[in-house]
Amino acid sequence: MEQKLRNLSQEALTALGAAHTPEELNDIRVKYLGKKGEVTQVLRGMGALSAEERPKLGQVANEVRVAIEKALEERNNRVKEAQKEKMLAAETIDITLPGNRFGLGRLHPLTQVMQEIENIFMGLGFKIAEGPEIELDYYNFEALNLPKDHPARDMQDTFFINPEVLLRTHTSPVQARTMEKMVPQVPIKIICPGRVYRRDDDATHSPMFHQVEGLVVDKHITFADLKGILATFAKQMFGPETKTRLRPSYFPFTEPSAEVDISCFNCKGSGCRVCKGSGWLEILGSGMVHPRVLEMSGYNPEEVTGFAFGMGVERIAMLKYGIDDLRLLFDNDLRFLAQF
Ligand code: PHE
Repeated sequence: MEQKLRNLSQEALTALGAAHTPEELNDIRVKYLGKKGEVTQVLRGMGALSAEERPKLGQVANEVRVAIEKALEERNNRVKEAQKEKMLAAETIDITLPGNRFGLGRLHPLTQVMQEIENIFMGLGFKIAEGPEIELDYYNFEALNLPKDHPARDMQDTFFINPEVLLRTHTSPVQARTMEKMVPQVPIKIICPGRVYRRDDDATHSPMFHQVEGLVVDKHITFADLKGILATFAKQMFGPETKTRLRPSYFPFTEPSAEVDISCFNCKGSGCRVCKGSGWLEILGSGMVHPRVLEMSGYNPEEVTGFAFGMGVERIAMLKYGIDDLRLLFDNDLRFLAQF
């Protein structure tokens, strides 16, 4: 019996040496030490032994049990350790792989064009002025020589809030507000960027759009100053070869008035799709500040003169980037916006 126990012990230790998983170890434990295990069976048979043999064999059985348990525990630790190492090796992180890039935001094309226009005029000594988008009829129209019944009000289909209050249809009211604030000081040399509103909605008109207004008032300001400033602006905005031409026009708040065209930057004047064959592109309205407008703001038109201009920022952005539908600028489609 003793020999049998020693053989079982040997067998169990050999089996343990070959076990590689916790499951295999458990099977071995059950096989030898479990309730119906082989070592347990031998111990059950001890009842048949004589009183002298029993303690001796009990001691051997105990030794065998302890030896197997100890071997089990050691092997268990080894197996666990090996499994952990295998897992770590499989989960190795390659820290030299490039990371995921964050998408970088960018300025909206309109903001870019707006800032470009502002920078050019600031370089020419202009200051930036601002005025309210919800405006009084007085500043939007009357102070600009557009009395209530004036037919030229039709040029700008207006969102009225009440008969005296409206959404400004252009940035020109800032001319009147600035002069009123500055009078009698000169010079005034400002641009006013901002949002304006008109009842219009198609591929080239939006009910909300942006303008940049310009106003210069001083002694001895002439039409030549207007032309010089705007020609300089056009060259900086559209390239040094850009030519400018003035066409007679009409605005109630300027006299004389002129529309400013630039030579088409796409075909250099020979005629193309961008300029619709004419070689020229209209970019803004302008003129000498009407004596009535100076007067209404408190200036003496015999002492000071001025010029003013106003341009549509969307229109300039569309020309510059060859955008053929204005609404793209307001759709917030990143596939479009990311191109700028
Ligand atoms: N306010 C005019 C418009 O919106 C443009 C303009 C501004 C014309 C200043 C002359 C002088 O059409």
